[in-house]
Amino acid sequence: MDAITMIKERRSVRKFKDEKVDRELMREIVDIAKWAPSWVNYQVARYTLIDNEEVIKEIANDAVKGFVYNMDTLKNAKGVAVLSFVKGKSGKLDQYGLESSENNTWEVFDSGIACQTFCLAAHAKGVGTCIMGVIDEKTIAKIINLPEEETVAALIVYGYEDGHPAPSKRKDADEIMRFFDR
Ligand SMILES: Cc1cc2nc3c(=O)[nH]c(=O)nc-3n(C[C@H](O)[C@H](O)[C@H](O)COP(=O)(O)O)c2cc1C
Repeated sequence: MDAITMIKERRSVRKFKDEKVDRELMREIVDIAKWAPSWVNYQVARYTLIDNEEVIKEIANDAVKGFVYNMDTLKNAKGVAVLSFVKGKSGKLDQYGLESSENNTWEVFDSGIACQTFCLAAHAKGVGTCIMGVIDEKTIAKIINLPEEETVAALIVYGYEDGHPAPSKRKDADEIMRFFDR
């Protein structure tokens, strides 16, 4: 699959076949996703993969703020990746003798890049995904016993898609870009 097709044809998948994704294939997907760029190449993104139906059900019931849309997607999913990041590294400028910004958003930025790279890698390998931001990070961390030094960034539901979703609308390029010149 070429890069343009991969970017344009990836969709958020919310309906899955009743078939688990082999763990070795998920390892391959993470092995591709690890090539995502990151602040000073710190590679702070972490993936906790869950294919245990009881744990997925617990996340659906207790960790998506009761948002029915996400509860339904999760109850139908065969796998969930909890994307987390190691805190306090991205955005640091100490090594350059510069003051780091207090309001550090670069770890979230790194996580976003990692997230999309994971979803594109999964799509290229025939696995559908859906990113979820309506989540209760603290409850998820408790359920999966997340290491203290990490914070949950997002959930990524995954599995074999049951029908490819139609694309949602995109703005025209001219609406979202401008050239600046002097
Ligand atoms: C940061 C982020 C958070 C999202 N949160 C949710 C979510 O909680 N539930 C959901 O069903 N989709 C969620 N989505 C998926 C978007 O709705 C989806 O990407 C968008 O509608 C475009 O559709 P497409 O991914 O199929 O191109 C999220 C996407 C992003 C990038």
